[in-house]
Amino acid sequence: MEISATMHPDIKEVLLTQEQIQDIVRQVGARITEDYRDKNPLLVCILRGASVFMADLIRAIDCPLTVDFMAASSYGNSTKSSGILRIDKDLQTPIDGRHVIIVEDILDSGLTLSYLKKNLESRNPASVEIAAFSVKDVAGRTPRLEPKYVGTHVPDAFVVGYGLDYAERYRNLPYLGILKEEVYE
Ligand code: IMP
Ligand code: MG
Repeated sequence: MEISATMHPDIKEVLLTQEQIQDIVRQVGARITEDYRDKNPLLVCILRGASVFMADLIRAIDCPLTVDFMAASSYGNSTKSSGILRIDKDLQTPIDGRHVIIVEDILDSGLTLSYLKKNLESRNPASVEIAAFSVKDVAGRTPRLEPKYVGTHVPDAFVVGYGLDYAERYRNLPYLGILKEEVYE
């Protein structure tokens, strides 16, 4: 892919091309296939950011599975976490006895995922693991939790594309990129 020809003007740097993303998703899918072959896992997509990863990931998993969706909000239109989490849409499936995999776009402080994981664990599932497309590496910070499946690590910057937004924009970019600071400053 010719990045410079298709790169959005608000993007400072492309971190992963569409092709690199597909390689990553295939690898995560293969690992989940190995680990869950006879477990009929329930993949829980955290809306809206993880929807793009979810759509690719389930097609990279070669065993029976079911899907459900949840929405939680903590960020509003800011680029920093507010620390407040609210469940905006809950699951439609009971999860007691199920092997649950939470599918998330990015782990930053880990606040969102640690809250969601605790919430789902309280419903008596057989297991709860996390598949995060990306984990943000911040110097001097230990994340609150370590997802079992991590697609990639990203630098301490605001990234968009492949489902990730800033103020609901850029989710449709097929690559993962760093947003120019002047867009949100
Ligand atoms: P955490 O609770 O700090 O781990 O934040 C996780 C949530 O914040 C993710 O589900 C995203 O919705 C959002 N988020 C964190 N960092 C970024 C980013 O760089 N770009 C877009 N969204 C982000
Ligand atoms: Mg999100």
